[in-house]
Amino acid sequence: MTDQAMMRAQQTSASRPRRGALVIGASSGIGAALARELARRGYTLALVARREDRLGSLRDEINRASGRDSARVYVHDVRDYDAVPDLLRQIVTDLGADTLQMVVYTAGIMPDSATGVWSFAEERAMLETNTIGAIRWLGSAAEALTAQGHGTLVGVSSVAGERGRRGNSAYQASKAALTTWLESLRYRLKGSGVRVVTAKPGYVATEMTAGMKLPQRATISADEAARRIVSAAERGRAVTYVPGYWRPIMWTVRQLPAFLMTRLPV
Ligand SMILES: NC(=O)c1ccc[n+]([C@@H]2O[C@H](COP(=O)([O-])OP(=O)(O)OC[C@H]3O[C@@H](n4cnc5c(N)ncnc54)[C@H](OP(=O)(O)O)[C@@H]3O)[C@@H](O)[C@H]2O)c1
Repeated sequence: MTDQAMMRAQQTSASRPRRGALVIGASSGIGAALARELARRGYTLALVARREDRLGSLRDEINRASGRDSARVYVHDVRDYDAVPDLLRQIVTDLGADTLQMVVYTAGIMPDSATGVWSFAEERAMLETNTIGAIRWLGSAAEALTAQGHGTLVGVSSVAGERGRRGNSAYQASKAALTTWLESLRYRLKGSGVRVVTAKPGYVATEMTAGMKLPQRATISADEAARRIVSAAERGRAVTYVPGYWRPIMWTVRQLPAFLMTRLPV
């Protein structure tokens, strides 16, 4: 880049209004990839998760690449529901008034099970993390964004929420509940200026799926998932399958009779 072109780019980015994004579940996998993608698109970031070391390395990487302090970290367990309103207020203040444009909830767990059976404690943790944490964060963020009259809320759900299968029942139920809650929130916020986006990834290669034998041709990287989710969010798509070929696949799965569902090897 010539000096003139560099100066023009700096002037353009200085004159562009600041856009802030909050990613809950940013320390690995899709969440970390979302943070990198949003940083590349010029967002200032608030990154939330429990693992401080992972968040710290991600922040340093993003700040080095952007050449400015574009990311801050907030160590938090999404099951600490009572802490959310104060932490969100802190993040909004740190990002700058009227700056928060996008809030993505991608925190989630799916504990391994060698036996195909999950304990009550594991099932409860899935519902608490994947669903109640999302309701707490996105519900609180909905109030903040509605007050400012603009913004986008993104919930990372899953194709797993579309139909009950023999597999991990509580994980599927947690995503089904999240999908329905997001749909309902979208109707409630219509006309408020706040958009609600439901992202439904299929197979994504992350720590969550590391021990699973996934069909390689139907498995995408976290980076690709993040690019697709951010593009859909910026366009304000209500529901986005990640990638889009999961839409007809899941339509077909929803039509299957129950006796066939019991035979599916998943
Ligand atoms: N991978 C797939 O094939 C796939 C497909 C469909 C949907 N999804 C969904 O995509 C989302 C991201 O999953 P991933 O595949 O990227 O897995 P991942 O690499 O394991 O990431 C999970 C993220 O959630 C955070 N998290 C978990 N429990 C938390 C808690 N109690 N408090 C705060 N943060 C918590 C983790 O951070 P800390 O551990 O540092 O707290 C981490 O940042 C999940 O909601 C998952 O259900 C994944």
